[in-house]
Amino acid sequence: MKRSGRLVLVSNRGPYRLSLTRGGVKAERTVGGLVTSLLPLMEKTGGIWIAWGDPAGRYALPVRHPRFELRHLPLTSEEVRLFYLGFSNNALWPLCHYFLGRVRYDRAEWEMYEQVNQRFAQAVLEEAGDEDAIWVHDYHLARVPLFLRRQRPKARILFFWHIPFPAVDVFRTLPWRRPILEGLLACDLLGFHIPEYARNFIETVEELLGARADGETVHYAGRATRVLARPIGIDFAAVDRVARSRRTEQRVQKLRETLGPGALIVGVERLDYTKGIIERLRGVEHLLDHEPEWRGRFSLIQIVTPSRLDVEAYRQKKREIDEIVGRINGRFSDGLWIPIRYLHRAFPSSELVAYYRTADIALVTPLRDGLNLVAKEYVAARIHEDGVLILSEFAGVAYQLPEALITNPYSAEEMAAALKQALQMPKPEQRRRMKAMRDRLRAEDIWWWAAEFLEGFER
Ligand code: G6P
Repeated sequence: MKRSGRLVLVSNRGPYRLSLTRGGVKAERTVGGLVTSLLPLMEKTGGIWIAWGDPAGRYALPVRHPRFELRHLPLTSEEVRLFYLGFSNNALWPLCHYFLGRVRYDRAEWEMYEQVNQRFAQAVLEEAGDEDAIWVHDYHLARVPLFLRRQRPKARILFFWHIPFPAVDVFRTLPWRRPILEGLLACDLLGFHIPEYARNFIETVEELLGARADGETVHYAGRATRVLARPIGIDFAAVDRVARSRRTEQRVQKLRETLGPGALIVGVERLDYTKGIIERLRGVEHLLDHEPEWRGRFSLIQIVTPSRLDVEAYRQKKREIDEIVGRINGRFSDGLWIPIRYLHRAFPSSELVAYYRTADIALVTPLRDGLNLVAKEYVAARIHEDGVLILSEFAGVAYQLPEALITNPYSAEEMAAALKQALQMPKPEQRRRMKAMRDRLRAEDIWWWAAEFLEGFER
C-alpha cells in the first residue's frame, strides 16, 4: 500500500489483552468485529495502534513476530464507568441501533466522553508526524478528529464508523448531537459500511447543522469532508486457508462424529441485545412446535461470547437466554437428541472456523447490526461451496450478500420458514448462492477495503 507516512490507528478496543509475565508479555486476543478486521490490516501495513488498555506503554506485537506497535492508554475505573459503559454503551450504542427505549442520556457521562476523547487525541498528537495518516475508529471516539484538527489544521484524518448510523429523527434525540456531528466532520474522509448509513449521516448534518452536501462531499465550517460507504472486509484468504488445513479437517470429522447425523446449524455472537439471540431461539421453537416432523432432525450450536457484562442490560439478556434455552431443551429433548447446545464463552478463531465448516446452516439474525463479520467468516470457511447463510434484513451485510436467505428476525414465523427452506435447499442451489457470495467476499476483502480508504485518501 502506498503511503508517505505511517499509519496511526486509533480505537477504543485494542487487539490484545496484555499481561506482564516473568518472561515478558502475554497477549490474548480480544473479540468483536472491529478487531477481527483491523488486526490483519495492522499486521500487514505496520504502524502504531493506540487503544485503551493496561499496562500503559508501547508494545511490539504480535509477540513472536512483531509487525506493529501498540500503545496502551489506561483508563481509570471512573472513566470506564462514565465514558465506556456510560456514554458509549448506554447512549450511543442503543441510539445508533434504534433501541431508543434503552437509551440513557446523562451529562456527567457526556462530559467524561469529552475528556477521554481529549486524552486519546493527546496520545495521537504525541505519536503522529505530519506525514502520517491518522485513522480513528468507531463511536467511542467521535470527538477525536475535532480535537486533532484544532491542534493540527493540516493533519490527514480518516474516520470509520463501524455501527449503523440511524435516521435523522432517531439521532436528533441525542442532546449532544451537534458536538458529535461536528467532531466527525473535522476529518477529511469519513467511512460507513453501507450507503444507507452514509445517506442518514448526510441528511442528519444537513438538517441539524445546516451543512451543505455536494454528492459525497459535505461542506461545513469552511471545510470539506468526503463521505464514503464501503463495507469492511475480512482476511478471506486467511480464513479459507485455515478452513482447508489438516487440523481443521480432523476437527470437523470429530465434531461430526460427536454431533450425530442431523443437520447442524450454527450461531456465533457477542452477548448483546442487538444480536436477536432470543428472537432466533423463538424461531427455532416455532418450527419445532408447529412442524413436529422436524424434531430430532437438526440441532443448533449457539455460541455466545461474554461482552460488556458490567452493563445491566447485558446481564439481563444473559439471564433471558439461559431461560429460553432451558425451556426449549426441556420441552423438546427426547433423551438422546437436544435441539440447542449453548456455549457461553469465547473460542479461538481456528475453532470457530471448524464449526463453520461443519455447519450446514449459519444463522446471523441480529435485530440491528452495523455489518456482521460472522456471516463473512462462515462464507469464507465454506470451501466446498455449499451451506446456507440465513441473514437478517437488519444486518448491514445483507446489502452486500443478497444471495443469502434474508429474513425478518422480529417474526418467529418468518424465521421458522427460512430455517425450513434452508434445511430443504438442494445442493445445486446452495452452490449457486454460496459461490456468488464467496466470489464477492474474496474480492471485497480487508485489503480492498483498506485500499479504498487509504489510497482514495492519497488522491
Ligand atoms: C462492535 C463495535 C466495536 C467493539 C466491539 C466489541 O463491533 O463496533 O467498536 O470493539 O463491538 O465491543 P467492546 O465493547 O468489547 O469493545
